[in-house]
Amino acid sequence: MPNSLKDVPGFAPHGGALEIRAAAPDESAALAKEASALPTIQATSRRVLSDLELLAVGAVSPNRGFMTEADYLPVVDDMRLASGLPWSLPITLSATDAEAKTLKKGKRAAILHEGRAVAVIEVEDVFSYDPSAEADKTYRTTDDKHPGAAHLYAQGPVYVGGEVTVLENVFAHEFAQYRLTPLQLREKIAERGWTTVVAFQTRNPIHRAHEYLTKCALEIVDGLVIHPLVGGTKGDDIPAETRMQCYEVLMENYYPRDRVILSVFPAAMRYAGPREAIWHSLLRKNYGMTHFIVGRDHAGVGDYYGTYDAQKIFDEFETGELGIWPLKFEHSFFCKACEGMASGKTCPHGKDQHVHLSGTQVRSMLLEGKEPPAEFSRPEVARILIEAERNRA
Ligand code: ADX
Repeated sequence: MPNSLKDVPGFAPHGGALEIRAAAPDESAALAKEASALPTIQATSRRVLSDLELLAVGAVSPNRGFMTEADYLPVVDDMRLASGLPWSLPITLSATDAEAKTLKKGKRAAILHEGRAVAVIEVEDVFSYDPSAEADKTYRTTDDKHPGAAHLYAQGPVYVGGEVTVLENVFAHEFAQYRLTPLQLREKIAERGWTTVVAFQTRNPIHRAHEYLTKCALEIVDGLVIHPLVGGTKGDDIPAETRMQCYEVLMENYYPRDRVILSVFPAAMRYAGPREAIWHSLLRKNYGMTHFIVGRDHAGVGDYYGTYDAQKIFDEFETGELGIWPLKFEHSFFCKACEGMASGKTCPHGKDQHVHLSGTQVRSMLLEGKEPPAEFSRPEVARILIEAERNRA
């Protein structure tokens, strides 16, 4: 077991150190008591609670709380924190005007969920913001049909910035055995003796194309972390409970146990495409990864982003500046003529040879109880998805 972070592999956390904002066991009780007398801000979305968990475990280091305007503006405009360090998406806490009136800079406030204080914030800044401008810069659209933009438009009119101390992780019980913190994951990686580790972000069941990317990546690094996002997705994405069953069955049947770790990523999905690819990779750097898979339309939704925009955005940073290496993959598929998985880069055959199914086609097959072809999805995965559709119906 390593004694300190210096002994564990993976690049250093972003900014140099893990900023763990969970209350220490000996300060929790006193802080919770103090919180009951503080002004309050309601955590109005699952995303805020997910962000608190990310802050608690140090996944969003070097951030120590919700952004002040000094960090927020350069992040939105230039993908940089005030310090100049790359950071692609704001971490914000919105409040109503009524809540804002009760706050004083330099004093504390309690962040509430279902009537309980789940965190305490040192109020450093209370500032108004322009939701459309934020949407335009971060999501590349102001369309209220974009789930990220819609979330922004539904928020309170001011942001409250300041360091937080987290008292409770509301989701701790979900997938508890897979919920490894950056420290725990770094330790696990160290135990395995890996020096290069690739992270696979996903919000979907792993189909053959996803499996192909992960295995291509694994050919060139020591280990793979399947790191599915479980912190909140839009309603028509497949629920995390079902996806976890799919990942488990794949781990049992198709992945080498000694080279792969399954662990959940507690962030909420933003659907920010390119900017989220940078965010996803920086957080994975904090979890101890050295490489990050970016395929087609990473973190995309609808047709707001070009197929490879999430890869191109990495070119806006100097080599090595992000401190994690993107592994970029072209659109992948099974090719009947090649008799195997391939991509536009490796396959000379026409589309008529490629097994392609749209999300809608897959969904309707599953609803009818039909397994998609084995070239598209492993039968074990297809069976779990059919069963889940049946239960949902
Ligand atoms: S995402 O929102 O997490 O990006 P998804 O779970 O579908 O959605 O994708 C996970 C990763 O696999 C992303 O990097 C995505 O770009 C990549 N990916 C998904 N399908 C393909 C495919 N057919 N070819 C290449 N890359 C893909």
